[in-house]
Parts: sequence; structure tokens; C-alpha cells
Amino acid sequence: MTTVTVDLGSRSYPIEIGPGLLDDSSCWEPYAQGRTLAVVTNSTVGPLYARRLCKSVAGLAARVVMVELPDGEEYKTSATLNRVYDALLEARCDRQTLIVALGGGVVGDIAGFAAATYQRGVPFIQVPTTLLAQVDSSVGGKTGINHPRGKNMIGAFYQPEAVLIDTATLGTLPDREFSAGLAEVIKHGAACDAGYFAWLENELPAVLARHPATLAEAIAGSCRIKARVVAADEREAGLRAVLNFGHTFGHAIENGLGYGTWLHGEAVAAGMVLAARLSVDMGSLEPREARRIRDALAYARLPVTAPVFEFARWMDLMELDKKASAGTPRFVLLRGLGAAYIAGASEERLAALLATGEEGARTDPLQPLAGPNP
Ligand code: NAD
Ligand code: GLY
Repeated sequence: MTTVTVDLGSRSYPIEIGPGLLDDSSCWEPYAQGRTLAVVTNSTVGPLYARRLCKSVAGLAARVVMVELPDGEEYKTSATLNRVYDALLEARCDRQTLIVALGGGVVGDIAGFAAATYQRGVPFIQVPTTLLAQVDSSVGGKTGINHPRGKNMIGAFYQPEAVLIDTATLGTLPDREFSAGLAEVIKHGAACDAGYFAWLENELPAVLARHPATLAEAIAGSCRIKARVVAADEREAGLRAVLNFGHTFGHAIENGLGYGTWLHGEAVAAGMVLAARLSVDMGSLEPREARRIRDALAYARLPVTAPVFEFARWMDLMELDKKASAGTPRFVLLRGLGAAYIAGASEERLAALLATGEEGARTDPLQPLAGPNP
């Protein structure tokens, strides 16, 4: 098992990473001993993993309350959040209750926000079961729900007591979800750590084959990067925004196609290719480095070309991005691999960028497997 620490002073917490951790009572002991556990999960993950979790905490927890939510981003709403509050109140959960978020990013974000707000805050731990949740959403304390007028518009920064990552749970994750999570892994390397990116390029075949040791190493490396950024800038006053590499274009793609058409990671993948090309246009990135990012994403079976929108539509969609300043979109760009910065770009430059496709590029999500450097 590998431990990565998120260093936030008195609110520091460990991220425990390894296969089989779900079944290991000793991992649960520090968190479950003598407590009421409210396990929030969904109708897909619950039947796969909740029983095993319950078995591990059986001799430790005072009791376990199960809260099963419907599966899907469309349920990341105030109505679903209310279902969590209802279940906690019905079971007379007090302020010592530990909420356990068992599932992907949707469950983690809802359960984390419930923990931040139930009786003005109760402790919680994240048990992420998608690759995206293991390397990104479970780490760093962003919690929340969607509002009909915008994604993740209601929420709180609220850190967990721990993140317990059983890498073996990825064995049941569909390929398309796995690739979408890999987009965030590649993002961490491209935006924050050139050495990790180079390691990943070499290890992508083993990661894609879900080789247990390599996968656990990739997850630990990605968590280390995220933990470092969160420790330096917990509330996104500046640096943390670099984790949004590819997201200005990516959010526009997700929203423009209609949420759910492309997965978040797929849209971010095509967005990272555009952001890398914009960095090349701005003279801060070598074309061969942009190509390395594109090749890694293509090898991970992610789309590397954005869908076609009118330029005015692109601009409308990008102005909704949280980084936009006075209605002008801003982008996370690269000054070389692993070194991100934030800047605007002229409309002329953006129009030229978005008008040119890439020769031979494929646009469908879940690409067939190609060589690492096609
Ligand atoms: P998700 O939670 O919807 O999970 C994807 C699908 O995989 C779901 O159908 C889920 O039930 C299923 N699943 C989960 N684990 C499984 C497993 N081990 N085996 C089989 N199926 C499994 O999606 P996601 O990609 O994990 O998370 C996306 C959400 O995360 C979005 O709502 C996004 O806004 C949020 N997010 C939050 C942060 C943050 O910092 N808080 C960061 C990135 C994304
Ligand atoms: N997913 C970006 C962040 O946590 O800041």
C-alpha cells in the first residue's frame, strides 16, 4: 500500500492506495472504530462493493446506515442531496457520524457536500471507485451539486478525513470511463510534472491493460501531483487553476454537445490538444511537445479533435467558464511540458485555431487502440 499525504496543517489527511484495501479491516480501523457509518453509494457501485465494505467494518463500526442513490450525473441535484439528508435524519445520525462516499465523482461530490452541510458539518471519507475519482475528484475537498443553470454551481470546499483507494475496483469499470479518467492522469503530467508525463508515456500500455502495480503507481503519482497543488492553493486563489488545463475548451465542448454526449474526460482530452496547440501558437510550447500530449491521449483512446461549432458559439460557450474575466475566456497554457500558466488569447488567434482541424484526426469517443507514437 502507498500513502500520499495532503498537507493542510491540522486538516492534513492520507490518501491510501492499493489493491484489496476495501477488504482489509486494518485500513478501516482508524476511521470506523466505534462510529456510526453512513455509506452513500449508488445503484451500480452499491451492489458491486458495499457488502465487502460492510464486512470489513463489521467488528469495528457501532452501526452502518446505507444510502443508495440513483446512478448518473443527472441525479447530482438538490433533490438527491435531500434524499441523503432524509436518510441521515431518519436513521438519527448525529454529528459524530462518519459519511463514507463509495463511488465515482458524482457520489463523492454529493456525499462530500452532504457531509459539509449536515448538522453544520460531519466527518467524511472518500472511497473512490472510478479512475477519475481516484486521481482527481476525491482529492482536494471540492464538493457540490449541479444547479439547473450550471454544473457544480452549488458547493463547498470541505476536506475528507482520508481517501481510501482500492485500485482493484477499477477491474469492473467500463473501458470508456477508464479512458476518461486517464485524461485527468495525462493532464496532471502535462500541466504539472514533465518527469511524470515521460514515465506515463512509457507505461501507458501497462496502464491501459490495467496492470495492477503500474496502475497503482500511476494513481499514486497523479495523487502526489494533485496533493502538492492543493496543499499550495487549497481554495484556488491562483495555482490550483492549472489543474484546469484543457478545461476552457473542454467545458465548451461538453456544454455545446449537451452534457453527457461526451464524457468530461473526453471533452477535456480534445480541449488539452487545443490548449497545447494554442500554446504552440503563442510561442511557449515546442510543436513536438504538443504532439507528445496528443499522442498520449490518442493512445489512451480519447478524442483528440474537437467537434465543429461556429466560432461565435465557441466564444459564447467559453465565456461561461469560471476562469473567464470580464467575459473574455482565459486558458491554461504551457511553457513547456509540466509548466502551466494562465493567459487570454486574441479573438483572431482563437478563430484561426478553431477553424483548423488536424489532418487525419478522429473525433469519436473511445478510439481503437493505436501505437503510443503513431
Ligand atoms: P460517475 O461518478 O458518474 O461514474 C461513472 C460511472 O461509472 C457511473 O455509472 C458509476 O456508477 C460507474 N462506476 C463507478 N465506479 C465503478 C466501478 N468500480 N465499476 C463499475 N462501474 C463503476 O463519474 P466520474 O467520472 O467518476 O465523476 C464525474 C463527476 O466528478 C462529475 O460530476 C464532475 O463534476 C465531478 N468532478 C469533481 C471534481 C472535484 O474536484 N470534486 C473533479 C473532477 C470531476
Ligand atoms: N479538478 C480540479 C480541482 O480539483 O481543482
